[in-house]
Amino acid sequence: MNPDVRIVPMSPAHIPALAKLEKCCFSVPWSEAGLSEELLNPIAVFLVAQREGEVLGYVGMHHLLDEGNIINVAVFPEHRRKGVASSLLFSLVRYGIENGLARLTLEVRPSNTGAVALYESFGFEQVGRRRGFYSKPPEDGLVMVKKL
Ligand SMILES: CC(C)(COP(=O)(O)OP(=O)(O)OC[C@H]1O[C@@H](n2cnc3c(N)ncnc32)[C@H](O)[C@@H]1OP(=O)(O)O)[C@@H](O)C(=O)NCCC(=O)NCCS
Repeated sequence: MNPDVRIVPMSPAHIPALAKLEKCCFSVPWSEAGLSEELLNPIAVFLVAQREGEVLGYVGMHHLLDEGNIINVAVFPEHRRKGVASSLLFSLVRYGIENGLARLTLEVRPSNTGAVALYESFGFEQVGRRRGFYSKPPEDGLVMVKKL
């Protein structure tokens, strides 16, 4: 965990930086419009990591009944391996415990070994695969679950 990093709810002011982050991280990035829709989505829990106003990364989750499905995690390349994603995931775990969630789930590319290592370090377990979950390039999705 990095004590200088603040975790705050996503707000309209974050959207341009987050769209830039999406473009730099993913082959099918979320647009500003897609991210803005989540500001109005009652099941969305989107958190931003920032330091002195600079956006470092973010995480997005949908809270459905007793399950949280993590849909986005990304950190700008120059801020990686400094505990930013860990701080974001820690905040989601705390949200889950405080709100009575039974588990957190996510999908990840098996080839994304860094992300898989991050999730395993948080106690997520591999429970299955979704065939053809990803495009550009096509790849199955590894399903991971953390019980709370
Ligand atoms: C995956 C990602 C979010 C990790 O963010 P991060 O802030 O660098 O992660 P952290 O610093 O909190 O890493 C915590 C631990 O996870 C593991 N980890 C994270 N990135 C790793 C990598 N590239 N290779 C191996 N292990 C890694 C390590 O165990 C690390 O601890 P350590 O640095 O003490 O060894 C970031 O690399 C990223 O944005 N990647 C592009 C987008 C992406 O792939 N998102 C996930 C989609 S499912």
